[in-house]
Amino acid sequence: QFKELVFSGVQPTGNLHLGNYLGAIKRFVAMQETHDCIYCVVDMHAITVWQDPKELNRQIREVTAAFLAAGIDPQKHIVFNQSQVSEHAELAWVFNCIARMGWANRMTQFKEKAGKDRENASVGLFAYPMLMAADILVYRATHVPVGEDQKQHLELTRDIAQKFNNDFAESIAAHGFGDAFFPLTEPMIAGPATRVMSLRDGSKKMSKSDPSDYSRINLTDDADAIAQKIRKAKTDPEPLPSEVDGLKTRPEAENLVAIYAALTDSTPADVLREHGGAQFSGFKAALVDVAVAKLSPVAGEMRRLMADPGHIDQVLAQGSDRARVLAARTMDAVKDIVGF
Ligand code: ADP
Ligand code: NA
Repeated sequence: QFKELVFSGVQPTGNLHLGNYLGAIKRFVAMQETHDCIYCVVDMHAITVWQDPKELNRQIREVTAAFLAAGIDPQKHIVFNQSQVSEHAELAWVFNCIARMGWANRMTQFKEKAGKDRENASVGLFAYPMLMAADILVYRATHVPVGEDQKQHLELTRDIAQKFNNDFAESIAAHGFGDAFFPLTEPMIAGPATRVMSLRDGSKKMSKSDPSDYSRINLTDDADAIAQKIRKAKTDPEPLPSEVDGLKTRPEAENLVAIYAALTDSTPADVLREHGGAQFSGFKAALVDVAVAKLSPVAGEMRRLMADPGHIDQVLAQGSDRARVLAARTMDAVKDIVGF
């Protein structure tokens, strides 16, 4: 019933890292061959925590540059920033009224990001998942490539779609939309490196906000920085096992093997077939080679694009115009269905 369409987004909150690349951007690029895709710089999500206005604009351009440098084609697909299509915020309000407090209260990302001082978190940080549901459903997108950390938010998106379809079933049918207006969107979380861990601590995910620069490889790091960070990455004293089972209780080793597999489009089993029995010093040297080979061209192209901000702004403006047409069509229908 629903045409297959891919939507996903990345926040312009600085420090784009290898986890964002392997968990999201690299998958975005792959989806272009088989699907119509909409890729969004989610700047309204970014301001759920304080952003310096002087930095935010540069960061919006940097995420856009990363999309383009990684190989997303803004002519064939849509690349834009969220704040320029006001239907996202409009639909999010409707979803705030569909979602239940209990559902939002269960979101673990809010608990992590708000930390102990929950009274001082923004209301927007709490309402974030409803805006995310609106981002996806304003295009009635059927598939969302994301990292593991977004799984719970995608489940909430499906719950919201389902409740909207149920609550307004009669009105949806009366307006000629059959028995469901919103699709139940599928998360696409598969393969190695759906959750890239910190290089300093195998129990924490690699994150933009980690205060240690050695915890993550930034997409803008040069070859020396990549080499240093991988050499300093935390490991244990044992050589690599020859079977994937042998990684189970070794989170740091498991992480480096998963990163190697994702960067070379192979599997952890393939990597261990080649490197099983190796000491970390040797394996890390091999990992530096594949990481530099994969990431350096992306970093170089990002630098080239960032030197011409006018071009990036033009890509975003054109993408926003195209996205707005689609989003307005959904929002018009939602208003009819709700009774506005
Ligand atoms: P962050 O979590 O670093 O603030 P975003 O929320 O903007 O980044 O997430 C952008 C995309 O990157 C999402 O699809 C998210 O699932 C993915 N992502 C973020 N961190 C990781 C990670 N450590 N491993 C795999 N994917 C990740
Ligand atoms: Na995230």
